[in-house]
Amino acid sequence: MHIEKTIVQFVEKVKPNIFLLKVLAKNISSKATAGQFCNIKVSETDFPLLRRPFSIHNIENESVYFLFDIHGEGTKILSNKKVGDKIDIIGPLGNGFNIDDNYETIFLVAGGIGVAPFPFLTKSLTNKKIITFYGARNKDYIYDKNLINVKYSTDDGSYGFHGNVIELLEKEIGKNDFHNIKIYGCGPTPMLKALQKFSLENKIDCELSVESAMACGFGICQGCPIETTDNSYKLICKDGPVFNSKEIIL
Ligand SMILES: Cc1cc2nc3c(=O)[nH]c(=O)nc-3n(C[C@H](O)[C@H](O)[C@H](O)COP(=O)(O)OP(=O)(O)OC[C@H]3O[C@@H](n4cnc5c(N)ncnc54)[C@H](O)[C@@H]3O)c2cc1C
Ligand code: FES
Repeated sequence: MHIEKTIVQFVEKVKPNIFLLKVLAKNISSKATAGQFCNIKVSETDFPLLRRPFSIHNIENESVYFLFDIHGEGTKILSNKKVGDKIDIIGPLGNGFNIDDNYETIFLVAGGIGVAPFPFLTKSLTNKKIITFYGARNKDYIYDKNLINVKYSTDDGSYGFHGNVIELLEKEIGKNDFHNIKIYGCGPTPMLKALQKFSLENKIDCELSVESAMACGFGICQGCPIETTDNSYKLICKDGPVFNSKEIIL
């Protein structure tokens, strides 16, 4: 883990409410693995006081990319950064996805901005058949650069399958003869809950990247507990954000 003064290389509005941030971060970029996140101090003042967590979207040479949507004050401030601005970032944090497994087919299942960690994961999953299931509110919320074999769903039917991404997944899995599948999911909690149910019912190994409000981001404040199936608690920032779907209660 590093605390690094990174330098903004660009912030680009890639969709009406979605921004792509690229920073020069030599230390973080050299250590990060897919599924890890960074805790970003979005301003140089005391407001907002708390850092904001963001998945590592991609790594390129000594640069780190983040993909984010405007949620509240913190993300608004981040979207207004200029080339050359310095941003204080702690990372890489958390455990990341486990990619040492021997699976033939990989399903990446993304809900909304939960797509953020998947370009880096796609790049890290070499020699695998990857299918990406990507659900969004409507076509303006889709940002699919550096994803492969994408099947889309939108809530309003403006692009791809009309419905949610789990319905799309159920439809596709019924149509095809997939073997030896592993699922990686990231998105809002209701979607993760449905994906957890789907993976357990279909006996498919599944890892979920879970979200929570965070303060420290590395296990000190105890502010991000998640209940586990063995009646204990883990910390999302330190033991996660990625958990096996069998392990957690959402
Ligand atoms: C591991 C992880 C990875 C994530 N990755 C991404 C990603 O890649 N892209 C993305 O868009 N989003 C991601 N998120 C969500 C992202 O962190 C939130 O959207 C972001 O924190 C919103 O910040 P905001 O200031 O804009 O919103 P706000 O709603 O203003 O604040 C965000 C959180 O901070 C709390 N908060 C705000 N102000 C205070 C205060 N003064 N005191 C105490 N608490 C306060 C709020 O309760 C809220 O929970 C991720 C979250 C996690 C946990
Ligand atoms: S955010 Fe502090 S312990 Fe997880």
